Amino acid sequence: MSTRKKIAVLTSGGDAPGMNAAVRGVVRAALQEGWAAYGIRDAYRGLVEGGAHLFPLDAGSVGVSFREGGTFLGSARFTDIVGTSQQAQNLKLAALTTLGEAEISGLVVIGGDGSLTGAQELFAFLQAQRQRLPEKIRDMHLAIAGIPGSIDNDIPCTDMSIGVDTTLNTIVECIDKLRDTATSHKRVSIVEVMGRLRGYLAVMSGLATGSDHIFIREHPVSREDLFALLSTLQESFDNGQQAGIIIRSEGAVFSTPFIKETIATLLEPRRDVRETILGHLQRGGCPTAFERVLAMRLGVKAVQLLKAGFHDPLFVCMRDNRTSSTAIAEVLAKKNAPAFRDTLSHNVEACYNLAAQLEKPPARLRTQKRIAILTDGNNVSGMNMAVRSVARLALNAGLNATGIKGGFCGLLEDEKKTVPLQWAMLEMKSILRRPGSLLGVSGERVLDDKHLLTQAAAGLEKLQVEGLITVGNLRSYQLAYRLAHMTGIPVVGIPADANCNLPGTNWVIGMDSALNDLTREIDRAADAAHVQNKIFIIHLKWHYCYCLVHLAALAGGADQLIIDIRESETEDSSFFQAQVEEKIKGLQKIISRRKLGATVVFFSRCPEAAASGLACIKKTIAEQEIGLTATVVPLETSYGGSIPTAFDRVLAKRFGAQAFAVLQERLKGSGTSFHIVGIKGKTILAHPYKEHIDGIDNGCPPEFVAELQNCFALMSQMKRA
Ligand code: F6P
Repeated sequence: MSTRKKIAVLTSGGDAPGMNAAVRGVVRAALQEGWAAYGIRDAYRGLVEGGAHLFPLDAGSVGVSFREGGTFLGSARFTDIVGTSQQAQNLKLAALTTLGEAEISGLVVIGGDGSLTGAQELFAFLQAQRQRLPEKIRDMHLAIAGIPGSIDNDIPCTDMSIGVDTTLNTIVECIDKLRDTATSHKRVSIVEVMGRLRGYLAVMSGLATGSDHIFIREHPVSREDLFALLSTLQESFDNGQQAGIIIRSEGAVFSTPFIKETIATLLEPRRDVRETILGHLQRGGCPTAFERVLAMRLGVKAVQLLKAGFHDPLFVCMRDNRTSSTAIAEVLAKKNAPAFRDTLSHNVEACYNLAAQLEKPPARLRTQKRIAILTDGNNVSGMNMAVRSVARLALNAGLNATGIKGGFCGLLEDEKKTVPLQWAMLEMKSILRRPGSLLGVSGERVLDDKHLLTQAAAGLEKLQVEGLITVGNLRSYQLAYRLAHMTGIPVVGIPADANCNLPGTNWVIGMDSALNDLTREIDRAADAAHVQNKIFIIHLKWHYCYCLVHLAALAGGADQLIIDIRESETEDSSFFQAQVEEKIKGLQKIISRRKLGATVVFFSRCPEAAASGLACIKKTIAEQEIGLTATVVPLETSYGGSIPTAFDRVLAKRFGAQAFAVLQERLKGSGTSFHIVGIKGKTILAHPYKEHIDGIDNGCPPEFVAELQNCFALMSQMKRA
């Protein structure tokens, strides 16, 4: 009997993009512990059959697949193993025999509730029927960890399941395309999305794409409700809306043909209504950066739990951006409770309501009150969605909304720099495809002295606005704070940047899009490095925060990450040089094992020191005689240059709604205030900026960065605990 611990991993149920990354997390973390890792082909069916279905996995087996959709282990919905029938018992016995004979003591199951049920039953069977096992494996020990993999986000006790983020982005991309053609032909497009039992995908994609209505199982509607919805759609068209988008989750009460028929008959004038069932298209595709990171973190956590040891099967989950665990039995009990089964969670319900609110036809009641909105700082993806959210809510509350063009500097000029934000011009179509901010930002110009700021304050007063909402970076917060004091009006700031370095929030608008941009580039560099058998040094050229640097390196599967923490070029570089030597030595080991090119992500805190940092890395590579040449790939995220991801759209709309709610509240009173909105865990909040003025509670939580560092070390096979 071998003394080396052995664990096995399987993927089960409907496949989900990111499953391969979870397997990578499990396998590489296990190998770093000195354990042996095995894969099981075709889920429980393969486990029952045994033989070649159980096969060893090494670091190389999970080298590239983590960037691909589907699951390289194969999957199956093998329900025969569940239940108390004689056949189910025999199948469980066979599955345990496969594991016992191979001396597997840890099993990781990646899948949905059916897969978790299988895991729980397998364990219970082992406890109850140990005596039925062949004698030589009767004393086997088996710990089972379950990882949530389901595109539907229908598993309780975790905020996110593997597959959800990628699927959402796929749906959003499809709806954007459908909106293009629906707008050209003034049609209504009904889009059916997956989610047999849960409407999560429908709600989030509906909010992200500005759909006119979302039909889900959790919100059954009557025929009367349907007619009321239709009159809302009719009114929107009467007010200049071009196309209609209706999302139906596959589990919703009214069928797609029924909705189609009703809309087609009742709209005046009659409109062409088309339907598209997205089907399995939604389940495939290259996993997003968020997905890969989520999956690897959960995989690593599963191994950490197996190392610590536990008895009853455990569920590995993500809560408030922290990996955690709970009993699988608890997950299964919650799954069947009506509170989970038939209702949306608090946050998803809020998104459902917000989606409807943002698409309401314009309010009839108008006041003379006016608010202004501006965007400034870095021109990042998602800013337009925040502006749209604020302006639509303001208009629907009867207020006037003025957009200020060119950021804070737009306040220096006369009124030509403003644009009245009207309901019809805030159609999704016009907002969607334009990268960055339609209102623009200050760019090179900076309001850096008191004189200019006084002029900007005068400009704001001239506009006779009663409140201001700003969307931008830390510099925008500082300017907004001073302006609020100079003008005496309430101001609310929304965080938008590619970096998570703003106070009062864990995430900012634009970061997810920037991360996906960077990850795509790192993917490309990795492919080229492997084909050309070279070392590609990917230089992240900008003031990135540590979160983003680690997320990009992890999501892109870089082999090494080198950070120069020097703040100036003149600072002592001996620590950095020692770090480079150690990391290149590690890289050399990987390259000699793998016989392929490699990628190194390099980031310098001080841009002026980057050239010397790169020179040091290249010199060390040459000195250590790795035998491969090194090429530098400079990488700057295309700020605002990409269509915002689903996450950025949803976050922007939610931030916009929160900012407007705070502003409305402040408008009831009098006096100066500057609040900032943010997200902590899953909760959207607002705080007075003063609380954060000393930089307390800044973005990237240190424990998150530490976890990412550990995860990166394990995935790049540079051992960490
Ligand atoms: O993975 C869950 C799910 O995507 C459901 O939303 C959908 O109804 C079902 O899978 C369809 O999967 P299949 O056609 O593979 O059985």
